[in-house]
Amino acid sequence: MSYNTGLIGLGNMATALIEGWIKKGRNPKEIIGFDIKRERCEFLKRRFDIEIADRIEEISAKMVIIAIKPQDFSTLNLDLPVDTLIVSIMAGVPIRKIEEVFDKNPVIRVMPNLLCSINKSFIPFACNEKVSKSDREFFIPIFRDFGEVVEIKESLMNIMTALNGSGPGFVAYLIEAFTEAGVYNGLAYDTALKLTLSIFEGTAFLLRENDISPNSFRIDVTSPGGTTSRGVWVLEKSGLKGAIYDMLRVSGERAKELENS
Ligand SMILES: NC(=O)c1ccc[n+]([C@@H]2O[C@H](COP(=O)([O-])OP(=O)(O)OC[C@H]3O[C@@H](n4cnc5c(N)ncnc54)[C@H](OP(=O)(O)O)[C@@H]3O)[C@@H](O)[C@H]2O)c1
Repeated sequence: MSYNTGLIGLGNMATALIEGWIKKGRNPKEIIGFDIKRERCEFLKRRFDIEIADRIEEISAKMVIIAIKPQDFSTLNLDLPVDTLIVSIMAGVPIRKIEEVFDKNPVIRVMPNLLCSINKSFIPFACNEKVSKSDREFFIPIFRDFGEVVEIKESLMNIMTALNGSGPGFVAYLIEAFTEAGVYNGLAYDTALKLTLSIFEGTAFLLRENDISPNSFRIDVTSPGGTTSRGVWVLEKSGLKGAIYDMLRVSGERAKELENS
């Protein structure tokens, strides 16, 4: 039997994809998954009631998503019909490497993030030349369930991996720092965390809703000689912005290194 969507690798990211689809009302019976860890298969069967393949060879679907670690790709032993749309979410694995295994198939490389589970991701994707108009018309609505879908040049994929793929981890780190600073200055942990989450969520919402640039918003809320101005002075002196530029650069370089893993 052929399914709409096959998933190879049922780890964190595959779980986020399935969760996002189910929240949008997708029928779990359209999805078949396989993982070398039986407990992952059983867990996802129990949690979402998707179909599970006993062996990788049983994966048959119009679109097969490869959601294993980049380091495991070279061990993947999978033969799929040439009209199967291959979608890879693996960090750092270029389309040309995927074509070495699936040389006749349409291939789409995507870089989502864990926010797919709450339908708040951004979905950049790049295609090989075998991807047809109808492949795109099939892929886009399914991935639009997670958020805005945008086609990009593959050369931008490593920086997308750093900013979009790892972004939630970086932001969680900043939330951790704000919370700990609140505790250091006398707030209870729960209060500091609640407050910090509301500031991050509310500020992002306000900038987006009102289409304001972060810079003009900050200038608006920074009164001369005031509290924000005093705090920003410390951030400027500490070189935080430079550290964030470096964070993104080295994270993108790490994605590039994965090409050769
Ligand atoms: N997590 C993120 O935030 C994120 C964001 C964007 C993209 N990605 C990409 O998404 C992919 C998956 O990441 P993840 O965090 O979900 O990893 P993960 O939690 O480690 O899940 C991968 C799963 O695939 C299994 N697996 C390994 N080789 C397999 C094979 N040949 N056939 C079937 N299953 C196999 C693994 O089992 P073992 O543990 O036994 O190896 C594991 O259960 C990665 O390529 C990553 O770069 C992740």
